[in-house]
Amino acid sequence: MKNILCIGAGYVGGPTMAMIALKCPDRKVTVVDINSERIAAWNSDQLPIYEPGLLEVVKACRGRNLFFSTDIERGIEENDIIFVSVNTPTKTFGRGAGCAADLQYWEQTARKIKHCAKSDKIVVEKSTLPVRTATAMARILAAEGDGGAGVKFEVLSNPEFLAEGTAIEDLRNPDRVLVGGNQTPEGDAAVAELVAIYSSWVPRERILTTNVWSSELSKLTANAFLAQRVSSVNAISELCEATGADVQEVSRAIGMDSRIGPKFLKAGVGFGGSCFKKDILNLVYLCETYGLTQAAAYWRGVVAYNDHQQERFVSRILRAMFNTVAGKKIALFGFAFKSDTGDTRESPAIAIARMLAEEHAKVAITDPKALPSVRRDLAGCLDSIVEEPDPYKAADGADCIAVATDWKCFRDLDFARIYASMRKPAFVFDGRNLLDHEALFKLGFNVYAVGKSPLTHLD
Ligand code: NAD
Ligand code: UGA
Repeated sequence: MKNILCIGAGYVGGPTMAMIALKCPDRKVTVVDINSERIAAWNSDQLPIYEPGLLEVVKACRGRNLFFSTDIERGIEENDIIFVSVNTPTKTFGRGAGCAADLQYWEQTARKIKHCAKSDKIVVEKSTLPVRTATAMARILAAEGDGGAGVKFEVLSNPEFLAEGTAIEDLRNPDRVLVGGNQTPEGDAAVAELVAIYSSWVPRERILTTNVWSSELSKLTANAFLAQRVSSVNAISELCEATGADVQEVSRAIGMDSRIGPKFLKAGVGFGGSCFKKDILNLVYLCETYGLTQAAAYWRGVVAYNDHQQERFVSRILRAMFNTVAGKKIALFGFAFKSDTGDTRESPAIAIARMLAEEHAKVAITDPKALPSVRRDLAGCLDSIVEEPDPYKAADGADCIAVATDWKCFRDLDFARIYASMRKPAFVFDGRNLLDHEALFKLGFNVYAVGKSPLTHLD
């Protein structure tokens, strides 16, 4: 029975390996990382990421067949199947800056595997990567010198489709698992090894096998399509605000068409998260590299509209609040990029808070999980920002509430109490269409929801 190593103990490596350990109790699964604080957290009850249900899964396997360690060399030596789940952020320097994937962590890992390997390995790309990265990896692993002599490496692509906040459920019951391999006898054998692992709990018909390039490209494409739906519905929300149509009604009507489907049609402040923007820009860069300028421009438009949606949200606040928020207190409800996660990477709330700070507003940010990231994410405008764990205190004396994250707990607040504590006229800008707008209007609020006509007492 081949044992498993995962290099990279982040949002993907940790939960994915915990699920494999849970479902394959006879395999030893080790997760390693260069970040010793992260590994210490994985070995404690304060896991480094917040994900519903994750602690229970980790506790069921940790110390039994799931181990977290910083000893990368030993991990490579002792294990046969090596998942690589390191971060692949957008490049911030040199050629392709702001667009291409930064593959430095990825390449460092490939070289480390080669340096330490003393027996044959299956190397699995779990990170999201540009098409044809597996070729580069195979070349590094096969190059002469610096270890790896006589060792055979087979590179597979096995992208991850989990979403944060629902990672455990997505891993337990995935729509599909994708495994790409070389179409050679060695490639087929390696694919069969990986398929055997997932078959422990995923129905065989949901495990797809393809060539490596299709697998790599399918991951970028899936994220691009999902993000494109969000930008599409947000573009319609702008038209709804101009015409008096209601975007939730439009989404419902089109979502009942089985060819369109109901998911990913929620208009809001735009998509955030570590991957949508990065992966679309990666796709744009790939298209440009192959000279496909129209295809590149098409996908770039999805990101451009997302930026516009965030600016539009702030412009609407300004317009409604008599064209100035200088000196006014704004309660920003939510800082995470979506509910049920503490992750704030590319969160729309960051851009919104910065724009409000530029307008000299005082922004009181409340969020059940993401407040620890505020100081880091809003460096440079902290004079205008306060973190406030209690939403009632955040709203106390405020002129408006701006909802940036769809945390369900915000829905259950006592808005009569909140209204009483706010300066009048009091406004709500619901950037997630989360709250009961009619009820808020009846309480006295002026309510601006995305893709809807305002409910206001000021006309
Ligand atoms: P992350 O930043 O949370 O974790 C990456 C980890 O890799 C970090 O802990 C870092 O210390 C470690 N690392 C970097 N270089 C290393 C090295 N040389 N040796 C050992 N460890 C190293 O990132 P993530 O969110 O888990 O994403 C990882 C990959 O998975 C990315 O390519 C991302 O696009 C993809 N992905 C992410 C999600 C998600 O929901 N976050 C979902 C699907 C796919
Ligand atoms: C997304 C994909 O859904 C995963 O399949 C993929 O594995 C992952 O990216 C990745 O590669 O990292 P994630 O970013 O965790 O997952 O979360 P989503 O649920 O996709 O939400 C992304 C953003 O879009 C959030 O800001 C969310 O609020 C927003 N969104 C989503 C909307 O504004 N409207 C919607 O209808 C759906």
